[in-house]
Amino acid sequence: MTDKMKAATYKEFGGAEKIEIKTVDIPEIKEGEVLVKIKAAGVNPVDAFVREGYLKEYLPYEFPIIPGWDMAGTIEKRGFSARRFEIGDAVYAYARRPIVQHGTFAEYIVIPESYLAAKPESISFEEAAGIPLVGLTAYQSLFDAGKLQKGQTVLILGGSGGVGSLGIQLAKAEGATVIAVASEKNHAFMKELGADHTIDYKGQDVGGATKKIAPDGVDLIFDCASGDTLKQSLSALKSSGKLVSIVDQGQDLDSSIDFQYVFVEPNSSQLDKLREYTEAGQMKVYVSNTYNLEQTAEALNQIQTLHTKGKIVIVP
Ligand SMILES: NC(=O)c1ccc[n+]([C@@H]2O[C@H](COP(=O)([O-])OP(=O)(O)OC[C@H]3O[C@@H](n4cnc5c(N)ncnc54)[C@H](OP(=O)(O)O)[C@@H]3O)[C@@H](O)[C@H]2O)c1
Repeated sequence: MTDKMKAATYKEFGGAEKIEIKTVDIPEIKEGEVLVKIKAAGVNPVDAFVREGYLKEYLPYEFPIIPGWDMAGTIEKRGFSARRFEIGDAVYAYARRPIVQHGTFAEYIVIPESYLAAKPESISFEEAAGIPLVGLTAYQSLFDAGKLQKGQTVLILGGSGGVGSLGIQLAKAEGATVIAVASEKNHAFMKELGADHTIDYKGQDVGGATKKIAPDGVDLIFDCASGDTLKQSLSALKSSGKLVSIVDQGQDLDSSIDFQYVFVEPNSSQLDKLREYTEAGQMKVYVSNTYNLEQTAEALNQIQTLHTKGKIVIVP
């Protein structure tokens, strides 16, 4: 096996033009780490935001950076004491490390095995690569922060994108009623995923439209969109209800609102749970487009629109 790989890289923050496809050294495999051959890498809005430099005050980084935090692949080599998986095992991971440097838009990644979980067997590598970041975000927001219970009603703002499309399915799997918000063209898609009701955020007040469906209000608002949609939706939150946002950090919110901001954390036991939902047929991933490594800049331009349906992935 070679000690080089092809990767998307950038050596300074900026737009998509900063991305270069290069041959780089595969990092040394240290104690507890494995080398994974990446079969597919999920693309997320944060990959573009990090490249723009928007998160440079919050996340330590080291140039050159290989972008990408999601992947599915196979174990190629194991370092000292890394014995959870066998060579050839199929795995998936949310591979955000404490320092932004070695990402997943590459042929290989060296990563501590603690980040990995067995890939769901019932789906392709492309579909599996679309799960970790958004699936963990939806899980941690709905259940860890939002404490969503069977029989409750959740309003999901941004229901057709990466996070929302899995959020709808997880909420339904746990017995909640789901009202999902996105533009009209995505309503049939959200219904297919299990949404009980859909609302268009264009041309009407989202809070008023929600109240027509749930006159007593909703127990949880899961905000994946922010802006006017979030502001409007607040009138539909029960006084005992909770707001969880993955976009808005809450600075301008009324302090009486029970609010929590979530920033997704790696968690391999929750990836095991997401595999169980998937293999039980309760969660599927819709991959709307696949790109090769040379098209990384294009994939990042698409994800930056914040109007992607389901997920897009890079196949290196
Ligand atoms: N804090 C965290 O840990 C975390 C984790 C993951 C994602 N995020 C952030 O959460 C956001 C969503 O991520 P994602 O991966 O799901 O993005 P995405 O795949 O681009 O999906 C965006 C969703 O928002 C909808 N949308 C766009 N404009 C809207 C508006 N004005 N009102 C209501 N809905 C609107 C889109 O529907 P239409 O296409 O129909 O407009 C789509 O359903 C991004 O800003 C991302 O950076 C944060």
